[in-house]
Amino acid sequence: MHSDVPLIPQLAGHLIAAGGKRLRPMLTIAAAHACQANDAQIIRSCEMAACVEFIHTATLLHDDVVDDSNMRRGRDSANSIFGNEAAVLVGDFLFSRAFQLMVKGGSLDVLRILSSASAIIAEGEVMQLAAAHNIETSYDTYIQVITAKTAALFAAACEVGAVLGDADTQTCQNMHNYGLNMGIAFQIADDVLDYMADENDLGKSLGDDLRDGKITLPIIYALENATDEDRAFWYDIFINKNVNDDSFAKAREICLKHDAYNKSLETAKEYSAMAVENLKTLDYSVYKSIFSDIAEYVINIIT
Ligand code: IPE
Ligand code: IPE
Ligand code: MG
Ligand code: MG
Repeated sequence: MHSDVPLIPQLAGHLIAAGGKRLRPMLTIAAAHACQANDAQIIRSCEMAACVEFIHTATLLHDDVVDDSNMRRGRDSANSIFGNEAAVLVGDFLFSRAFQLMVKGGSLDVLRILSSASAIIAEGEVMQLAAAHNIETSYDTYIQVITAKTAALFAAACEVGAVLGDADTQTCQNMHNYGLNMGIAFQIADDVLDYMADENDLGKSLGDDLRDGKITLPIIYALENATDEDRAFWYDIFINKNVNDDSFAKAREICLKHDAYNKSLETAKEYSAMAVENLKTLDYSVYKSIFSDIAEYVINIIT
């Protein structure tokens, strides 16, 4: 993230020094190990893992601007300190740095996988923007959005590790599918946490999704069983954009009444189980159990 333009390392450093789970780069390195990569291939996987995390970091900078979020990783978000313009531009810089690193790595396959994932993430965020405030949003559209905006990068992170470990085509595809299913479960969990978490544990403000008019899975399930009175409430929030101080508590109460969080958790569990299924043909190793533990972890964070 070095640059002679001081604002770049200052702003990027603010977000990166806060850490984050670094789940995606760990998946890349673990996938290489799971495919019996040699030492040189492991080192390459570490470099590409850095690319993956840079892409993730860039999307977070952009996402917090789009979502108007003021907390990230337990700190004030970059946009709230440095302003939207700086956050967007430094996000662009990190995206470009990721591509410089990829080219240096020299693998066209890796370049293909990560550049496709970057385009898909951007499409996902645009799809989400277009679907916001539309209470007719279907389950299928929701899954399509989260597959693109979140799961695609998990899929790419896993696939890149397998490709660098010289795994066969089927194994690379299985690792891709594992990341995709796990990523879908991960985003469903995140969407439940936006209503149910402890703000300090989460390191992000609760209620951003409701305020932004996002039709996430708990809302889709709550809408399915809505009474006329509930429907009028949702209409007021999402269509009239009439969100006030009491809206969040009321929305949470209606979702609880219709068991919308538990239903969402059940859906996340189905995707997590599919992710574990994708690991079936992977040779036994300590990394294989780490991958299934991660699929479990993703759903346990909401229970
Ligand atoms: C946040 O991702 C964005 C989502 C896809 C929900 P993470 O929860 O992996 O964020 P960090 O990197 O650990 O902060
Ligand atoms: C994930 O969705 C966004 C990205 C893929 C960058 P969210 O908007 O729900 O993520 P958070 O909750 O802000 O981390
Ligand atoms: Mg967001
Ligand atoms: Mg979220």
